[in-house]
Amino acid sequence: DNIRRADVLLGNDMQPGDALRAARALAPDEGLMASNMRSWREGLPTGLGGPAAILDEIKHANLRGRGGAGFTTALKWEACRNAPLKLGQQRIVVCNADEGEPGTFKDRVLLTRHADAVFEGMTVAAYAVGATLGFLYLRGEYRHLLEPLNAILERRRGENLLGQNILGIPGANFDIEIHLGAGAYVCGEESALIESLEGKRGTPRNRPPFPVTNGYLDQPTIVNNVETFAAAALIALKGGAWYANIGTRHSAGTKILSVSGDCARPGIYEYPFGVSVRQVLADCGADDVQAVQVSGPSGVCIAPAEFDRIIGFEDIPTAGAFTIFNSSRDMFEVARNYVHFFQHESCGFCTPCRVGTALLKKLMDKLHQGAGSPYDFAEIEKLNVLLQSMSHCGLGHTACNPVLDTIARFRPAYDRRLMQKDFTPAFDLDQALS
Ligand code: NAI
Repeated sequence: DNIRRADVLLGNDMQPGDALRAARALAPDEGLMASNMRSWREGLPTGLGGPAAILDEIKHANLRGRGGAGFTTALKWEACRNAPLKLGQQRIVVCNADEGEPGTFKDRVLLTRHADAVFEGMTVAAYAVGATLGFLYLRGEYRHLLEPLNAILERRRGENLLGQNILGIPGANFDIEIHLGAGAYVCGEESALIESLEGKRGTPRNRPPFPVTNGYLDQPTIVNNVETFAAAALIALKGGAWYANIGTRHSAGTKILSVSGDCARPGIYEYPFGVSVRQVLADCGADDVQAVQVSGPSGVCIAPAEFDRIIGFEDIPTAGAFTIFNSSRDMFEVARNYVHFFQHESCGFCTPCRVGTALLKKLMDKLHQGAGSPYDFAEIEKLNVLLQSMSHCGLGHTACNPVLDTIARFRPAYDRRLMQKDFTPAFDLDQALS
């Protein structure tokens, strides 16, 4: 069962169509609305209500992307709306439901219990940017959600919330297809995701150009996280000012956390931004905590002295993973596990990441076997410089994070392996994985 310190997304009682009707009502009058809708495809004038007014609400809400990076949603949508269309092109809305960060499962819950809010948010976005085609890129591991989600899309078409002339608005045409991923972590990176949507191998592209101008089949495309779309639907319904009042100055609204690990009550928790790590630990019944990994292995690992830090873009930004480790956990093995993950998931396209993650894994395995030396720590530092400066995408950039964080905070877990050559860990990752 889930804790809701904020009853915003998880507790919303929005009915299908509510947000879209509210978005439509933002138009000063129906005539003006219709004139806006004529240019649904071409790009929409500002200051006339309707789509432009929705964008203003998203701006006032100070909504920032919930996939982890926190880019300002209104800026992204506006850039897409203003991107010129070449002959035969259309604008595209993509919902990134490829949640692959270890320890993150809040998008699965949103799609299971609040799919209407997510699809409604995508439609609001389409309305705001003038898009006519949408994709939900669903993580391969969430295959079981495909039929239920398709059934919801079908129902929404029947209710005229998708399809042609949505809600009777002339020219308001938008539909959503679901595309199933195939289990690659790197496809959560938006440009790799777009490559995959186009039927190609999921390799990240060079950015810029960003998808807002050159996305799916080179068309202007917005890619947003599941939670971002659900929040956008609520903002359309309740207004930007209402939303901006929740959370902190730099981080408006709420954040859904996927709480897992050593606690009495794991699950999905929604908080206003600004909640302290300590508060979350108290709520989920975690009494004995050695470390918390926030935002998965690409995020940050923090120790008890830092538990007054807050969840928010000004301190700890997160896609949602909140993984708790008690004092019985070997933080070296935790880091080694994450390193194995990154090496396995490296797409292999760029040499620094392909080779760097493999070298990092070898170093950690060497330490694990009791064959390491202090020199290896310097090697890890060097690898980090290489991975951060030369990798093609975020996977390589963040691959050393769990190792550096745990060396800085839990050095004894590493030193034990240097001093005791025949060191036998209490938990053997190789054995567990075999
Ligand atoms: P980024 O900061 O490069 O971009 C974030 C978003 O802003 C993208 O949609 C990008 O297109 C847009 N953007 C950035 N600059 C722009 C510009 N000048 N014009 C228009 N649009 C612009 O971050 P990135 O590489 O897309 O994502 C990294 C984040 O992903 C990390 O914070 C990490 O925590 C998170 N992540 C999330 C996972 C999950 O399962 N949710 C898995 C792995 C990483």
